[in-house]
Amino acid sequence: SSSVQDRPGEHELVVVANRLPVDSRTLPDGATEWVTSPGGLVTAMESVMRTIDSGAWVGWAGAPGEAPEPFDADGMSLYPVRLDQEDIERYYEGYSNATLWPLYHDVIVAPEFHRGWWDSYLTANRRFAAAAAPVAAPGGTIWVHDYQLQLVPRMIRDRRSDVRIGFFNHIPFPPVELFSQLPKRNSILRGLLGADLVGFQRESDSLNFLAAVRKLLGHHVDGMTISVPGIGAAPMREVQVQTFPISIDSSAVSALTEDPEIRERAAQLRRDLGDPEKIVLGADRLDYTKGIRHRLKAWGELLDDGSIDPHDTVIIQIATPSRERVESYRQLRDEVELTVGRINGEHAPLGRPAVSYQHHSFDRREMTALFMAADVVLVTALRDGMNLVAKEYVASRPDLHGVLVLSEFAGAADELRAAVLVNPHDIDELKAAILRSLAMPPEEQEEAMRSLRHQVMEHDVQFWAHQFLENLTASGSPEQEAAPV
Ligand code: G6P
Repeated sequence: SSSVQDRPGEHELVVVANRLPVDSRTLPDGATEWVTSPGGLVTAMESVMRTIDSGAWVGWAGAPGEAPEPFDADGMSLYPVRLDQEDIERYYEGYSNATLWPLYHDVIVAPEFHRGWWDSYLTANRRFAAAAAPVAAPGGTIWVHDYQLQLVPRMIRDRRSDVRIGFFNHIPFPPVELFSQLPKRNSILRGLLGADLVGFQRESDSLNFLAAVRKLLGHHVDGMTISVPGIGAAPMREVQVQTFPISIDSSAVSALTEDPEIRERAAQLRRDLGDPEKIVLGADRLDYTKGIRHRLKAWGELLDDGSIDPHDTVIIQIATPSRERVESYRQLRDEVELTVGRINGEHAPLGRPAVSYQHHSFDRREMTALFMAADVVLVTALRDGMNLVAKEYVASRPDLHGVLVLSEFAGAADELRAAVLVNPHDIDELKAAILRSLAMPPEEQEEAMRSLRHQVMEHDVQFWAHQFLENLTASGSPEQEAAPV
């Protein structure tokens, strides 16, 4: 099936992801401005790539049409991939975010299946593979990321038999009973098996993937090793599956809390909110997986029944705009904003909010100030690959104050056992957890935070990337011959 063979490029490590770490924005005067892209993938990988020499990142620049020329930023080379309006509608908003995203997050909303979307997913994946393959040095490494690009590992293998190929899935991998619903499910599995190493966030994700490969493709699985039969005369290949919980640049985040400007900003935030006794914070992309509705429901009831006095306690809900043209995201925004309006209408004291709602993104420094000001952070995801907000809060509290309420359905719950763990579907349990957190004595907060910090500071994103790349080097056996020229 190998068609094109690409000439090698110059980069030892090539990252391929749907998005570049920066989004291009056209200013009113026609000039281009670059801003940090949203989401956990970029938060994590951006800091990894800054430490790597000769790294490249292949991805979409976030706007439709003509891709900008490759350029250098932060010591890495960026290679933009073109997506037209129709690709955005069918590959990105359609198959990636209205089919795969809800299916992989346990069908919190119903996934939509449209044949035309699959065709665009296939052609867009081909375009990413064709852009990435020629960029890697002979015998180099190509690391493909996330659910938007599951066909890319195999497509790259067809073009570059000399490189090592890794794949990491940032979101959950669903149980085989759910995965089996997906039309073209076997093509997805074969695409992923083009990699030498396939990595997941949680042990349960790895096991779900192995079960799907065994059951749907019938391949032999021995522990975490899959034997993939060769096509035609090609020999049998081995693919490794492994769990690598992703993290953040923990020491960089922690160091920001020493910055006098950020400390002053945290104090100012508290004054701006009218000096409440307690500040509670939720910070998410505006996504139905994050459990924002459940959180607001619990908060509204606590105000209704008088358990929380809005003069003493304020909640800030940051909802970063996301996938705004996808219908379920529009509906979510309407519902959240209706609920916030109702709660404020009924409970806010004159001149200040009960819920301070922010529908925009904040930069890293502003987020650190918010984490420093927050007495309690609520992470109530109904399903989440990892959730880096939980880890960012912990890294922002070297003072050992503050309480993390964490959903057991977020990947972070496997590691952050000292958080107040909740089932966000159980509104009564969630309410009780919020009240317990607000009343938690300082010594108890310190003990929990010390244990959480031990985990987050020791297992940072550099450690994660190192583990993945080391295992990738040890796995598979790329063909010895140099890439054909
Ligand atoms: C999650 C996904 C990423 C995605 C990000 C932002 O973190 O795992 O792949 O980039 O959300 O979503 P967006 O659709 O704006 O890229």
